[in-house]
Amino acid sequence: MRKSEITYWLNKIIEGDCLATLKEIPSDSVDVGVTSPPYNKGENKKGWLVKNVKYVNSSDKLPEDVYQQNQIQVLNELYRIIKPGGSFFYNHKIRWEKGTLLHPMDWLRKTQWTIRQEIIWDRMIAANIRGWRFWQVDERIYWLYKPINNNLIGEELDASHALLTSIWRFSPERENPHPAPFPLSLPIRCIYSILGEQKDKVIIDPYCGSGTTLVAAKLLGHNYIGIEIAEPYIQMATERLKNVINEKNIFQQEIQKHIVTKTFKDRKKNGEYTGKFKPSSNTTLSLFDDV
Ligand SMILES: C[S@@+](CC[C@H](N)C(=O)[O-])C[C@H]1O[C@@H](n2cnc3c(N)ncnc32)[C@H](O)[C@@H]1O
Repeated sequence: MRKSEITYWLNKIIEGDCLATLKEIPSDSVDVGVTSPPYNKGENKKGWLVKNVKYVNSSDKLPEDVYQQNQIQVLNELYRIIKPGGSFFYNHKIRWEKGTLLHPMDWLRKTQWTIRQEIIWDRMIAANIRGWRFWQVDERIYWLYKPINNNLIGEELDASHALLTSIWRFSPERENPHPAPFPLSLPIRCIYSILGEQKDKVIIDPYCGSGTTLVAAKLLGHNYIGIEIAEPYIQMATERLKNVINEKNIFQQEIQKHIVTKTFKDRKKNGEYTGKFKPSSNTTLSLFDDV
């Protein structure tokens, strides 16, 4: 098998720097990706409540312009290898450096991707007990899209996902010993919303850490490609991939949220619930009680 063929890369975790590795993967060959890169949060001690994220083998404390330039390069390589019409989900967060707000859009708009949606991930925690700002409980997930035939809008989502909104509520992962894992439900939701019941597609995570995206891909019947710079995390991911059956419950819980059978158009035609707010007579009364 040659590196110029996608089959060479399938169901492997490559140890190394993701930018260098991505450059070797053939163009237009991957269906969907999900990742959470290091956030360049610095590695200073954060106090007794906030977990200090420190990775084996890589620094999370680069000059911000160097960090953003690297992210642009990584995202553009990902754009090259994703198939036209394919999607990539990029998890990041708003940060502050000496009082200046750093927003992921600052560099996302400099990449080739069409930004299809900004999803709020409500982590349902409030770990920031210091009072310069309101408690930051959210992260962001950017749904990035590679247009096909110059169509920037893309295909309509399947009706089964219609109960999901642009706010995703998942608690942080607490069992996983990796310093910054995301919960398994997150990549399952991303991949399943795009690929549904299709199988044998190709899923990538270029900063795969403990392998959460790869586990999601395997549970959904797809091939995976993982890239990770730290060998101990590759060992964690390899163990998880051998025992995916242990994570099947989380998988089933997430899939049960994708259950709408009729399209929006059908529901509207039959006068069924479409998500539009309809106050009951009691609600109207209580809403206007004080007026
Ligand atoms: C936020 S973590 C990803 C965690 C993963 N989503 C999970 O659930 O376990 C980022 C990962 O990127 C890895 N990393 C840092 N720099 C890297 C690089 N240049 N190339 C590949 N991996 C890198 C870190 O070792 C870390 O495991």
